[in-house]
Amino acid sequence: MTTLIINIKELLQVRETPVEKVAGPDMKTLPSIKNAYLYIESGIIADFGKMSELEITSTDEIIDASGKVVLPTWCDSHTHIVYAGNREQEFVDRINGLTYEEIANRGGGILNSAKKLQETSEEELYQQSAQRLKEVIRLGTGAVEIKSGYGLTTEAELKMLRVIKKLRENYQIPIKATFLGAHAVPANYKGDKDGYMDLVIDEMLPQVAKEKLADYVDVFCETGYFSVEDTERLLSAGKKHGLTPKIHVNQFTAIGGVQAGVAYDALSVDHLEEMRPEDIEALNGSDTMPVALPSCSYFLSIPYTPARDIIDAGLPLALATDYNPGSTPSGNMNFVVSTACIKMKMTPEEAINAATINGAYAMGVSKTHGSITVGKHANVIITKPIPSYGFMPYAFGSNVIDTVLIDGKVME
Ligand code: NIG
Ligand code: FE
Repeated sequence: MTTLIINIKELLQVRETPVEKVAGPDMKTLPSIKNAYLYIESGIIADFGKMSELEITSTDEIIDASGKVVLPTWCDSHTHIVYAGNREQEFVDRINGLTYEEIANRGGGILNSAKKLQETSEEELYQQSAQRLKEVIRLGTGAVEIKSGYGLTTEAELKMLRVIKKLRENYQIPIKATFLGAHAVPANYKGDKDGYMDLVIDEMLPQVAKEKLADYVDVFCETGYFSVEDTERLLSAGKKHGLTPKIHVNQFTAIGGVQAGVAYDALSVDHLEEMRPEDIEALNGSDTMPVALPSCSYFLSIPYTPARDIIDAGLPLALATDYNPGSTPSGNMNFVVSTACIKMKMTPEEAINAATINGAYAMGVSKTHGSITVGKHANVIITKPIPSYGFMPYAFGSNVIDTVLIDGKVME
């Protein structure tokens, strides 16, 4: 099967020489070809270039993209889309003055979602999660990472990870799984965090590794949740089982989680709303990708990740949604890209780099996804006719996506 997209107003994120990520001042450059074509063979990008140089004469399918922009699909490297039910009551409680922390202390928050998930069958959990996955694919996401962490018992954590595995089997986009057993201390371990850490490390982790249910290990390294010491203990155990860290750090307080992540070769450190100069310094020279989650900042009214400080220090930055029932009930990467421009002072070029190639890096798929490069998967967004690509983040409330192709196939 071959598909030829012609008359593309502008083809974005064209990387003839593949890059695994972009950092610092290079993030301001988004290589593109105006008036371009893109040729897809068996789901893989086979050729692209200027229309004036098009030599392909026969193809199974042709798509005319006159007036439209084509770019790689979003790579959403941080989500929790496997969850049961919703938490709109907590949303109303926050409007009425309670804080996220106060809600959690009353048994709401993560523990509320854990209770719901434990009571939900694996099949029902799969159905709810598949709905969300289909929703985000329609919104232009073509690669996604999904975490456990709403189970908090061995059985329920494994149930979540099996649902992720089933999603991976049934959907064409790449899906990476992350084990987040250390997301919160469950009610039956209240006052015995060390006991729960023992359960995570001695019982859950070996089982997860044995069944090959996760690619990465995660922990909520935060005051009132898990300490830097807990984080180091878990990451070192995870490494012994072959799991690379991708961790939640510096969301509400800066306690040294970034340094722990870097020390254990984390693929990414995520959230980073509270960054001290030494936290930025710690990332310098490392292979760890900082990941910002602006729709979480928006929804909780907490500070935005200081993107300018991070990028201006020469570091890379990725953007992801954090789609989850508590802090970010949205998986819309278009909103993330807009919000990064509007609230974090990222340019459209920086935001698109952060949401495509750098997102791909932060979930370990940048060799196959995240740019228009021959040999990569043909996961692309075709926009509606728009004046320029800057219109995408600018028109923040509009859906400018016309078509999403996954492995060259049009998603309905
Ligand atoms: O990434 N911060 C930790 N975990 C999630 C939210 C958890 C929840 O409230 O359900 C996050 O924001
Ligand atoms: Fe998260």
